[in-house]
Amino acid sequence: MSRGDDLQSQALTKPAFSETQASALVESVFGLKVSKIQPLPSYDDQNFHVCVSRTKDTTDGPTEYVLKISNTESSKTPELIEVQSHIIMFLRDAGFPTASVCRTKGDNLTSLVSIDSGSEIASYLVRLLTYLPGRPIAEIPISPQLLYEIGRLAGKLDKTLEKFHHPKLSCLRRENFIWNLKNVPLLEKYLYALGQSRNREIVTQVIQLFKGEVLTKLGDFRECVNHGDLNDHNILVEAIKSAPEGATYHVSGILDFGDMSYGYYVFEVAITIMYMMIESKSPLHVGGHVLAGFESVIPLTPVERGALFLLVCGRFCQSLVIAAHSCQLHPENKEYLMITAKTGWKHLQQMFDMGQEAVEEIWFQTARSYDSGIAM
Ligand SMILES: Nc1ncnc2c1ncn2[C@@H]1O[C@H](COP(=O)(O)OP(=O)(O)OP(=O)(O)O)[C@@H](O)[C@H]1O
Ligand SMILES: [Mg+2]
Repeated sequence: MSRGDDLQSQALTKPAFSETQASALVESVFGLKVSKIQPLPSYDDQNFHVCVSRTKDTTDGPTEYVLKISNTESSKTPELIEVQSHIIMFLRDAGFPTASVCRTKGDNLTSLVSIDSGSEIASYLVRLLTYLPGRPIAEIPISPQLLYEIGRLAGKLDKTLEKFHHPKLSCLRRENFIWNLKNVPLLEKYLYALGQSRNREIVTQVIQLFKGEVLTKLGDFRECVNHGDLNDHNILVEAIKSAPEGATYHVSGILDFGDMSYGYYVFEVAITIMYMMIESKSPLHVGGHVLAGFESVIPLTPVERGALFLLVCGRFCQSLVIAAHSCQLHPENKEYLMITAKTGWKHLQQMFDMGQEAVEEIWFQTARSYDSGIAM
């Protein structure tokens, strides 16, 4: 996802290009001949899966791409998109399965396209990325081994990003960005969307605990740039062909760098745990496997570990409260938004009812079992 930094100040317009208009863009901006184009799911932007035919100038290039057209708000922060594109390329060079970013005919990474809608002229930033193989991890049952791999990948990602330098990197200090995990207290202004309910009581309590026990310790956490959205649709996996019974997967794609911002190591692991819990049949056990993978690269300090429970609860709150707010704004999306929310609320309630100590016991014991070589 990629949204502006404050939900309320945002009157973003999601692009609504037709397939014909999108094909014409690929040809005019990137010089590629489209043979097939299909819309892809998107939140605030518009994404298309594009197949191109080879010409004499493109005999060995890829033939499948994703055309990303940013919404009007994100299109006003080209430096943020530029840094994201450089990070995607940097990670690919470092061996991560991220897309390649294609250059325009004018040798740029993005192009600003203006459309006259009759009443006004709207401008949209356009990018073309290579299409990555695999399917979203949301579509497969996730094994403990894969959870460990994903935790490890999250750790390696944060570690590798420390070597990335760019003159505009400071634009990733997105102070009031609603999805930055330190901004859980900003959810207070959206609580109206929950009505008077047990869910609202839980969120209110999480926010209070978060203010007292997490915000006061931020200075003790180690800072880094976070991907910030390693959710089950932003990680693609492919079956390992040689694996017995074909049930083993490896990560074939990391997508969606639109929520990157400065945070902390422990934020990345908390965000990953929360999203991996959503579809799990054994949600309380997810955390230990992801944590063990992450800590195989970056062992957490006791203070960071001690904040993990409230950080995972905090991420559930961000996701659920913002979804409830979006439902009020766009009731037409309600059915879709509510499917994930139903499971999410159930997991948050269960974690909250069990309490920090009991949940940590499960997580830390599972993580410890990797040290002894007998993973649970
Ligand atoms: N490079 C890619 N290779 C393969 N599939 C992709 C690629 N980029 C996007 N997709 C597919 O499109 C979906 C949406 O893309 P992405 O995650 O980048 O955007 P989003 O967060 O859903 O939406 P928005 O761009 O509106 O914020 C992905 O979940 C994936 O299924
Ligand atoms: Mg996404």
